Amino acid sequence: MKFFVDTAEIADIKELNDLGMVDGVTTNPSLIKKSGRDILEVTKEICSIVSGPVSAEVTATDADQMIAEGRKLAEIAENITVKVPLTWDGLQACKVLSSEGKMVNVTLCFSANQALIAAKAGATFISPFIGRLDDINIDGMDLIADIRQIYDNYGFETEILAASVRTVNHVTQCALVGADVMTAPPAVIKSLANHPLTDKGLAAFLADIEKTGQKIL
Ligand code: G3P
Repeated sequence: MKFFVDTAEIADIKELNDLGMVDGVTTNPSLIKKSGRDILEVTKEICSIVSGPVSAEVTATDADQMIAEGRKLAEIAENITVKVPLTWDGLQACKVLSSEGKMVNVTLCFSANQALIAAKAGATFISPFIGRLDDINIDGMDLIADIRQIYDNYGFETEILAASVRTVNHVTQCALVGADVMTAPPAVIKSLANHPLTDKGLAAFLADIEKTGQKIL
């Protein structure tokens, strides 16, 4: 499973990228606002750090404007993925932009049918939002599993990009049900390393070696 990092914070992207944890980056208007940066400038900087797909989201709501914005975003770098919302206009924009050879990430997906029509419109990635479904007491992971089955049934090549990933359990479940990609905030990716038994075991090892008085350096 590929790891995308869901942020527009340059320091976090660099740190995770240096560790080989970043196969791509996803941004959205809320993350751009949080960064306090200009959308075009920060997206260009991210693309200069990461070689994988970098999703940059359009802000228009009608298809023609989305297409125009998508073309402008795609000029930033070769690894730009144009992100469009899962609306009828968004699907029209997806079809045009993907036909031009641009990568398209169709976002704000909350149903299997939405994922099905995004694939038919030529989406490179579909972004189902797990956490926001969990928020309203619907199991977001069931949606990932349903989309996996539908795409496999018919051989759709659209990649399932599990989004709104909030917990380490989401990451495990995404890998188990076969999401192609998951995107998560830096803190979630870093917390994948944590385990209380690791901390406990390390403390015991360090205490024992200290008792011997030995040092390696
Ligand atoms: O990738 C989409 C993500 O940014 C949404 O996450 O936690 O705001 O639902 P969240």
